[in-house]
Amino acid sequence: MNQPIKPEIAEKIQQLERKFKNSGQDLGSYLDGLLHDRYLTYWDYIHLDTLLSLQIPRTHFPDEEIFIAYHQITELYFKLIIHELKQIIDDKLQNAKFFTEKLHRVNRYFRVLINSFDVMIKGMDREQFLKYRMSLLPASGFQSVQFRLIEIYSTPLTNLVNPKERGQFSEQDPLEEVFEHLYWKFGATDLKTGEKTLTLKQFEYRYTPRMMRIAHQVKSSTIFHKYLDLPEKEQNNVHLIEALRTFDTNVNINWLLMHMGAAYRYLNKEKGEVLATGGTNWKKFLPPSFQRITFFPNLWSEEEKENWGQQWVAHQFNTTK
Ligand code: HEM
Repeated sequence: MNQPIKPEIAEKIQQLERKFKNSGQDLGSYLDGLLHDRYLTYWDYIHLDTLLSLQIPRTHFPDEEIFIAYHQITELYFKLIIHELKQIIDDKLQNAKFFTEKLHRVNRYFRVLINSFDVMIKGMDREQFLKYRMSLLPASGFQSVQFRLIEIYSTPLTNLVNPKERGQFSEQDPLEEVFEHLYWKFGATDLKTGEKTLTLKQFEYRYTPRMMRIAHQVKSSTIFHKYLDLPEKEQNNVHLIEALRTFDTNVNINWLLMHMGAAYRYLNKEKGEVLATGGTNWKKFLPPSFQRITFFPNLWSEEEKENWGQQWVAHQFNTTK
């Protein structure tokens, strides 16, 4: 026997009727859909089978799977970081509280990445790595567009120019011109011949349009601009300043130092070094103290900028003594 419809259900149906009527839709048809719908499962919701099908090694060395999965995990965190940065950029309220909360999220994600990098440094067999990496040429994490976008969203391109030419460009210069002088392009170019590595050429071909589109979009609204546009009282908020400085050190020192540790573990030799898959002179390209990238230069003293990333140099010095 049919039970009478409970009043709270009848109320819900009326609400639904109003909702669908307002958008010119027929509730009955949607109820039909609901009747035939399958129940949602966890594995469908997060597309688990697809996710787990994306780790496809190119060799038979078991540790290659760790290398692929950890890069993918990092890219997912990069995605979450960009998700927060975009919200700061789009925000119209201009208050330090919102800004700081979003940066705390970003810093939390970076903390996870920095603390987990030993999965790479200690978690793979060196002999296997040195073999399977030869099947990956000329691919390199250098081609991570999300890493480049974190930079582009955070600071004007002029702050990303290679150290030899930094200061020679202003925000009035065409973005296309400044873009050609970024530190990572410089690092992957033979300075004698001017020839770019294949890794760089392929990356440029694939992603320059996207990077330029976004660089134009945030020309006056990078995270740095958003900070400088805040009312003075909000700009002086100590929690916000601390969060920005932590973000800057997380990306431009701490993550780079952990990453550099991996390069040393696998590519350094007693005499000379193993060539990097991306073809850079990695010992000169990777250390933060050589590139000296800072997203928010105004938030650091001259001395702090002078000693940027020196931890690595100090660490190397101590271990080689
Ligand atoms: C065993 C692990 C790793 C080694 C040995 C390594 C090595 C290198 C080397 C040598 C470079 C310089 C470019 C080249 O010539 O190839 C580079 C760049 C880079 N790699 Fe890795 N990498 C490792 C793991 C990762 C992971 C897990 C990521 C995460 C996405 C990553 C992202 C990057 C990025 C973003 C750059 C450019 C850095 C910059 O412009 O300062 N790498 N890597």
